[in-house]
Amino acid sequence: MSRVLLLLDHRENRRLLAEALVPHFEVITPVSDEALADNFDVGIVDGVALSRLGRQIEARKQKEYPVFLPFLFIASRRDVGMATNHLWKSIDDLIFSPIEKVELLARVRGVYERRRLSLEYHQFVLRASTNAIVLLNRVGHVVQWSPSEERIFGWSEAETLGKHPPCISEEEIFNKLLETVWLGEEFASGETVCPRKDGSIVHFTVAAAPLRDANGTITYAVCVISDVTESKRTLELQKRRLNELETLDHVTAVLRQARTVDEALPILLNETLAMLGFPAGCIWLHQPAENHLRVAAATGWFADLRETPIKPGEGIAGTVFASGRAHISPEFVSDAFLCPSDIERVPAGWGGACIPIHALETLVGVFFVSCPLPRQVQPDEIKLLESLTRMAGVTLQRMELYESTQRRARQLEALHEIDRAISGSMGLRAILDTLCRQAATELRMDAAGVLLLDPTDMTLGYAAGYGFRTSAYQHLRVRLGQGQAGLAALERKTFHCPDLRSAVPAFLRKELLENEGFLAYAVVPLIAKGNIKGVLEVFHRAPFSPDREWWGFLEKLALQGAIGIENAQLFESLERSNMELSLAYDATIEGWSRALDLRDKETEGHTLRVMEMTVRLARAAGMTDQELVHVRHGALLHDIGKMGVPDAILLKPDKLTDEEWVVMRQHPMLAYEMLSPIAYLRPALDIPYCHHEKWDGTGYPRGLKGEQIPLAARLFAVVDVWDALRSDRPYRLGWPEEKVREYIRASAGTHFDPKAVELFLKLISEMT
Ligand code: C2E
Ligand code: SIN
Ligand code: SIN
Ligand code: FE
Ligand code: FE
Repeated sequence: MSRVLLLLDHRENRRLLAEALVPHFEVITPVSDEALADNFDVGIVDGVALSRLGRQIEARKQKEYPVFLPFLFIASRRDVGMATNHLWKSIDDLIFSPIEKVELLARVRGVYERRRLSLEYHQFVLRASTNAIVLLNRVGHVVQWSPSEERIFGWSEAETLGKHPPCISEEEIFNKLLETVWLGEEFASGETVCPRKDGSIVHFTVAAAPLRDANGTITYAVCVISDVTESKRTLELQKRRLNELETLDHVTAVLRQARTVDEALPILLNETLAMLGFPAGCIWLHQPAENHLRVAAATGWFADLRETPIKPGEGIAGTVFASGRAHISPEFVSDAFLCPSDIERVPAGWGGACIPIHALETLVGVFFVSCPLPRQVQPDEIKLLESLTRMAGVTLQRMELYESTQRRARQLEALHEIDRAISGSMGLRAILDTLCRQAATELRMDAAGVLLLDPTDMTLGYAAGYGFRTSAYQHLRVRLGQGQAGLAALERKTFHCPDLRSAVPAFLRKELLENEGFLAYAVVPLIAKGNIKGVLEVFHRAPFSPDREWWGFLEKLALQGAIGIENAQLFESLERSNMELSLAYDATIEGWSRALDLRDKETEGHTLRVMEMTVRLARAAGMTDQELVHVRHGALLHDIGKMGVPDAILLKPDKLTDEEWVVMRQHPMLAYEMLSPIAYLRPALDIPYCHHEKWDGTGYPRGLKGEQIPLAARLFAVVDVWDALRSDRPYRLGWPEEKVREYIRASAGTHFDPKAVELFLKLISEMT
């Protein structure tokens, strides 16, 4: 029930009013003026009380502010002036006495209704406003603390009324702002933060203004507080979104400059870490052939973490890869998913996240980011990393596809080159050089070498090498069955060794470790038609883990190399048997010619002498080695045709008759008939067939003239006549040398080619 306070000095009026109001209101008729401080809804004063209490009433109304606290003035006609002075300041309505009971009730009800509305409105405003309105009195204590304040800061009205507001206690800005208000500034505003009751941080703006009493003295400060935490967050979020878009755009742009996956990975890693402010990170890529994940790029503490691959489902990387979902690790060392073997290598105090790298339909790997505590990777950072890795995944996949196409093309080309070396019947040495060069280059190794098996002592010895810095490799032999290479050859198995220092079986050629600095190694046997030919070895000076494609190509190279070795060895042995055959031919030819000499009764060695002299003369005339072989054969066989001349004619100690001459002059034709079926000797026919032709065309058997006569025959004729004239014949004695020389010189241009004579005379003068 509403309370009406009667401050009436006029006793009769007091009695009358109380009597009229009591059935309707709770009426307070105080014994002293102190009652003005009590709770009431409507005050009623008369002239005497108003003169005495005017200021106090005013103060009381201000205390209620902004809620309306009505005072009614019971005035006599002469109090009109006084009423005018107090109206609006301390009184709100007046009733002239004598008092009409009905009117009194109506007036009291009227002002009370205004108060109720004012109260309701005020409470509604306080309840509904997102802004909070705090009223502070002159000593800075809260006189009004609304539900909005409670909503913003968490403290209730009961906890704050009559105290310094908890949201100011430690807050510089708010305090300073109030100070200026107390000093008379009409409006002050600012933005600040403070902890809520629950400790969380609230951002808010404050607008403060002084409230003055009738005298202009500042009695209250009213503060309108707006919680801007949310909009600040929204703004931050927008800024971050923009930043994220920029990050994406930037990383995409720099990634576009990379041409290969190897180039792209460090860019992707470092740019992403830099944009998001992570000091460490790494990228693991999935190797589909082996179905494991391997570190492909790493920085910060990840750089010394691990070399060994991890299977999907193992460790953090494997778990994220298997699930395809990002994983936040508040601290890696205490992460339940961490590989137990990594616990000692992961530094304490570092947390982070692992994000899957998606390509179009597959996962290509995972991306680790890491930062020192207390920073934690935030969900929106994960979102950004996911967008980044999705974009990068597609790019990496496209690059990988392109590179593997290119790699395959280059490998085909490499195999083809070895093929060409083989089919071009280049020597074994050239084939193996090509093999080593292609192996080192295309398998991305530092060096490659071939050891060939020597079947006589069962050792493997150097045959070719590429990329070695020293000659040590060329001098080291490996026993079959010993060490990595020896075992590969014996057991026909491929060996791979990531670290030669700890190889099993031990790598015995220590010189290669010390002098060449090799670390990783692989060896593959060279087998052709079921026979072990040797081994192909590749060396790398840095750690190296081959994938299935790499092995596939190494094996292709080894197969091709083995075929090459087989072919070259076949070819060489063919050449050797050819050589043996020609040696046998030569022996036969010499045997024939010796037999001929004996029968002809020519001086022992005529044929050998003219052969040697003719070869010399032919070389001086500029004939090639290949032609000289035929000159040699032709000279040895020049009179083979005499085999068909009967002894009676051949050995006749006198001049030949015309009939005998006919037979004798057949010997070049006979030589032609004897030798031309033998392909091997056909190129040697010039001399046996044409050695009796003469420069002036008077010779036999065909009467060739000048350069129609083959050069070999022209040269030979000079040598043959020279040697014949110096020797005894059954039909005459040998001539003295000077006479022979004269005869030869004189026959230049008739019997002999003048140039041949000149060259011959020069040659024999040099010899004596
Ligand atoms: P040959 O004894 O080996 O003589 C080769 C060539 O040396 C002869 O070819 C001829 O050009 C020259 N030559 C050899 N001896 C003399 C010589 O005393 N005087 C001169 N001016 N040149 C000489 P040619 O003439 O076509 O004879 C071919 C072969 O016929 C001779 O080979 C020899 O086996 C035989 N022959 C030639 N003349 C006689 C002869 O008078 N009596 C006999 N029994 N055989 C003869
Ligand atoms: C792992 O367990 O996935 C590897 C360790 C690491 O990178 O944190
Ligand atoms: C050796 O080292 O001499 C044997 C072959 C090898 O280990 O490579
Ligand atoms: Fe002859
Ligand atoms: Fe002769």
